[in-house]
This record gives sequence, structure tokens and C-alpha cells, in this order.
Amino acid sequence: MNISNEARRAAHALKVIARNEQIKEYIQHSEDLYPLLLKGAKRFVAGETRKEGIQKAEELIQKGYQISVEYIGENTKTLEECIEAKNECIALTNELRQQQKNVTISLDLSHIGLTLDPALAVEHLQEIAKVAQIYGHTVMVSMEESQKTEEILEVYKTVTAQSPHVGITVQAHLHRTPEDLADLLNYPGKIRLVKGAYQESAEVAIPRSKELNKRYFELVTTLIEANHPVSIATHDEELIQKIVESGYIHLPHVECEMLYGIRPDLIRSLKEQGAQAQVYVTYGSEWYLYLCHRIAEFPPNLYRLLSDIINPPEAESALY
Ligand code: FDA
Repeated sequence: MNISNEARRAAHALKVIARNEQIKEYIQHSEDLYPLLLKGAKRFVAGETRKEGIQKAEELIQKGYQISVEYIGENTKTLEECIEAKNECIALTNELRQQQKNVTISLDLSHIGLTLDPALAVEHLQEIAKVAQIYGHTVMVSMEESQKTEEILEVYKTVTAQSPHVGITVQAHLHRTPEDLADLLNYPGKIRLVKGAYQESAEVAIPRSKELNKRYFELVTTLIEANHPVSIATHDEELIQKIVESGYIHLPHVECEMLYGIRPDLIRSLKEQGAQAQVYVTYGSEWYLYLCHRIAEFPPNLYRLLSDIINPPEAESALY
């Protein structure tokens, strides 16, 4: 985790760029930039269509992975778009019905209604959960910027109380998370533990550091000891090594999860060691923010982006 000051500054700049609506609009409507960047995004995103998302998911299932699939999007501004996003999640759930492996539908609440009205997010999440329950799928709520944490947790608690197959993502970097976690253990849903992708101030969060890794491991331990279903979602090799040495990965309530295109060697090795290994596959035309986050987390991805644009790589799935 040796990240230089320059890389840190670049990461910060990328996270700020990612949140800039004007840049996003510009790229999405640019006939030149959009297709160019999409070539680079394909290292991390299955494609723009549901068909591509499902195809990638099926390839990974064939190789023995569990999968999470997300139709990318956030901060939807109109009711029609919220309904469209919710319907897409339901269509995705229906089309994944025949998969034998554990399937998770992941989503951002602000994609399906939170920005307009938390009650709409509850209603849409309940609808998606109802369909997922028919097939034994899990629904996993993502965590967004800290301004939304409270509302997201409230929506989650309302829905999981009736639908225990709905889980929640928590971010180890937020100062509030240990307290939130103690409360969340009273609810049945699976907890996905991530470090946190958003740029947050020091008042709100711990930056990437040894302290954050210590916090992450303590939170994993709390979940393991509580016997609570947990998805350990990190690509941090040092942390994973410690988690493996602690014997956590073979417990039945534990899965290890990584984003598609990041450290395929590591998730593969966890699968080969007998862990429940899950790959998080995304698709959709709103891939821009997702791409910015993946570069900000690991600035050398900027070089990969450039070379992928000129010389598209072989499918990443070959590495799994
Ligand atoms: P960290 O960022 O410290 O990276 C450790 C090492 O992992 C790096 O040194 C590098 O080797 C490798 N690595 C990490 N990111 C990489 C990348 N992009 N490209 C190449 N190598 C990389 N966040 C959030 O705020 N809300 C959410 O809902 C989710 N959901 C989610 C689901 C799943 C399944 C995962 C795996 C992650 C998320 N995240 C998330 C993202 C998460 O918060 C975090 O930003 C990333 O996982 C990167 O953090 P790491 O834990 O990997 O460690």
C-alpha cells in the first residue's frame, strides 16, 4: 500500500472530477470521448447492456464463482428514470433466475429513488426484493457518500426487517461505522464490508492507512464473532492474508468479494483455497463514475486506461 503523495493527490483530483456533473454530462454526450473512454472502461465494466452483464456473470459462474451484478447508476433525478432503473433491476433478477450459484443483485438506492424521496426507495427496494426472493437471490444495497449514510441505513432497516435476503454495505473508513455496525447486527441482512470509495473529509473518515486496515480487520472480526453473514470486500492483499491466517474464509457465513477486473489472481487464489469467492460485475451506460472510482483507488490504472484505449486487452475474464 505504498502510495506516493503524487498518487494521493491524483486520486483526490479524480474523486473530485468523478463528482462533477458538468464533466459527466460532457463525456456522456461527446461522440468522440464517450466511445474512446468506454474502450478503457471495459476492463472494469462488462458492457452497456444487460445481455453483456449476464454473459460475463455466466462465464464467471461456469468457473465456480458466485456473482454480484449491478446495473450502474446513481442520483436519478426523475420519477420515470427511477421506475426505469427499478424495472431494469427486476428484469435482471428474472433473467438470472436459472443460475445455480448464489446470485446477488447490487444497487445504489439513489439510482432507484432515494434522491427524490426515501419512501420511493423503500417501495422500489421492496419490489425488487420480492422478485429476488422467488429465486433465492440476495439483494445488496451499496453505500454512497456520507451525506446519504443515515437515509440509506434507514431504508435498509425498514426493508430487511421483512426481507432478510436484503443486505447492506458499510464503509470501514467512516468514523461512525463501528457504532452503526453494533446496531446493524440486530438486523438479519448480510453485511458487505468495504473500505469506502468516496472522497470524505477528515472529520468524517479515516484516509487509506495502517489505521484504516486495523479498523477494517476489527470490523471483520466483530462480524465473524457475531456469526453474522458477511462479505469481505477488499483487494488489499495484506489484509486478505491476515484474514486467511485467522481462518475466517472457510466459515460458512463468510464470503470474499472483489470487483470485476481488479486482482483476478487474488480472488482466484481464494476460490482455490476453498473460500466462497464472489465477483462483482457491472453493466450500463452510466459507467463513467464507476471508472473514475476505479482509477482513483489505484492511479496506475490511468496508464492501463490509456493503453486499453489504443490496444484493447484480451477479456479480463480469461484471468479468472
Ligand atoms: P485499497 O484501496 O487500500 O487498495 C489495496 C490494494 O488493492 C491496492 O494497493 C491495489 O493493489 C489493489 N486495488 C485496489 N483498488 C484497485 C483498483 N481500482 N485497481 C487495481 N488495483 C486495486 N465502496 C463504497 O463506497 N460503497 C460501496 O457500496 C462499495 N461497494 C463495493 C463492493 C465490492 C464487492 C468491492 C470489492 C468494493 C466496493 N466498494 C464500495 C469500493 C471500496 O470502498 C474500495 O474503494 C475499493 O474496494 C478499493 O479498496 P480496497 O479495499 O481494495 O483497498
